[in-house]
Amino acid sequence: MLYGSRAEPRREPTGRPPMVEARPDVPHAAPSPLAAARSKALSGRVRVPGDKSISHRALVFGALATGRTRITGLLEGEDILNTARALQALGCPIAKVRAIWEVLGRGVGGLEAPASDLDFGNAGTGIRLMMGVIAGHDMAVRMTGDASLSRRPMGRVLKPLRQMGLEVQDGAKETLPLTIRGTPDLVPIEYLLPVASAQIKSAVLIAGLHAAGETTVIEPEATRDHTERMLGHFGAQLTATKRQGLRAISVKGDAELAGRDVKVPGDPSSAAFLAAAALIVPGSEVTIDGVLANPTRTGFYVTLREMGAEVAFLNERNEGGEPVADLRVRHSRLKGVRVPSARAPSMIDEYPVLACVAAYAAGETRMEGLAELKVKESDRLAATAVGLTANGVAAKVEGDTLIVEGGKGVRGGGTVATHLDHRIAMAFLTFGLGADRPVSVDDAGVIATSFPEFRSLMEGLGASFADPEAA
Ligand code: S3P
Repeated sequence: MLYGSRAEPRREPTGRPPMVEARPDVPHAAPSPLAAARSKALSGRVRVPGDKSISHRALVFGALATGRTRITGLLEGEDILNTARALQALGCPIAKVRAIWEVLGRGVGGLEAPASDLDFGNAGTGIRLMMGVIAGHDMAVRMTGDASLSRRPMGRVLKPLRQMGLEVQDGAKETLPLTIRGTPDLVPIEYLLPVASAQIKSAVLIAGLHAAGETTVIEPEATRDHTERMLGHFGAQLTATKRQGLRAISVKGDAELAGRDVKVPGDPSSAAFLAAAALIVPGSEVTIDGVLANPTRTGFYVTLREMGAEVAFLNERNEGGEPVADLRVRHSRLKGVRVPSARAPSMIDEYPVLACVAAYAAGETRMEGLAELKVKESDRLAATAVGLTANGVAAKVEGDTLIVEGGKGVRGGGTVATHLDHRIAMAFLTFGLGADRPVSVDDAGVIATSFPEFRSLMEGLGASFADPEAA
């Protein structure tokens, strides 16, 4: 039998939920340092794993739908597996059948109280989307995460959810661990986002599916719109309008979603490291097939082009409601640019790797409006500037602006502290591929959260990685 039915025990004797394989005991429990060394020209045609944002949403909406959702191309990173485990613990069967992930949805409001805490590991998106889900259910849930997630602000999501009726049982506390109690009687709200955040927007819209009436989120700046696109695909009644120049998204409550097929495109935030590597290593040409080309996600590539990079979006097409393209990047002579703050939402996860590319570009690159980088998996503003400086590149933070002085050679030889941040690890391993001396990161294990194939894909293109002792 494929799925555990309600009559069967949901848990195996080990206490682990069935179907999603047990994680190899927290990937970063024992740090695994890695070094990147100057490499010969990279070349090849590859695919990157599925988009992380879309993968989370496909699982969550599949669980809230009635009937079967079949997901191809799901990212199998730790963050996504944690969301899958959480949904299983809430009574939603999820299984991988050959290459396809199947979710047997419980319907909006149809999940059940878990037997124990829900541990989201490193995953900010997973936990915030799930707060929106729990808000609409009559249950109390204790939510936990790793040391990085436990430092990150949850108040930004709890505030609107509280207005809808969610109760936080830890008083004014706004960091994990937290116990929240949802209600089947959520009230709809209209909420103006105080920061440009797709996670807050999505949590409120998800809660809105459970409320009686219409819930509206107004965004000051457009953020990734996968929730809106995918909710429409699952049959939710959703409208997006302009209100005084701002985007207002409304969702009808007491929603009924129907299970669907979802094809997850390649993650442009993972492809960014391969594209950056091709720009850093002379003579390179790399093509990445099937990358999500949604304009709310492509700010990094827009910026690379302004820097003089040869980046082409080939064979543009629409797959499952999202624009997709094959991305070809050729090594190019780059110049520093000013990246305006208005672009931040469309490339928010790509600033560390952009800063690393900027070290190889002639002149100054100024990246403005980056306050949100301070509350990611690590303080990415500080981690990036410190990592570059440790490797002989002049970099500084002025307020919310990151400034990198490039084109003066990259000495390398430093070790970068990753602070449980997968993107810091990958950015600096990419950076090291063009440096005079190897660049080390203190823990490459964290990369498994979003891009487990990072090392093997990069090595397949010709990148040179080694144990720092041997490098
Ligand atoms: C995400 C939104 C962004 C991004 C994160 C994924 C999403 O976070 O940094 O990696 O899937 O909604 P914020 O909403 O905090 O900007």
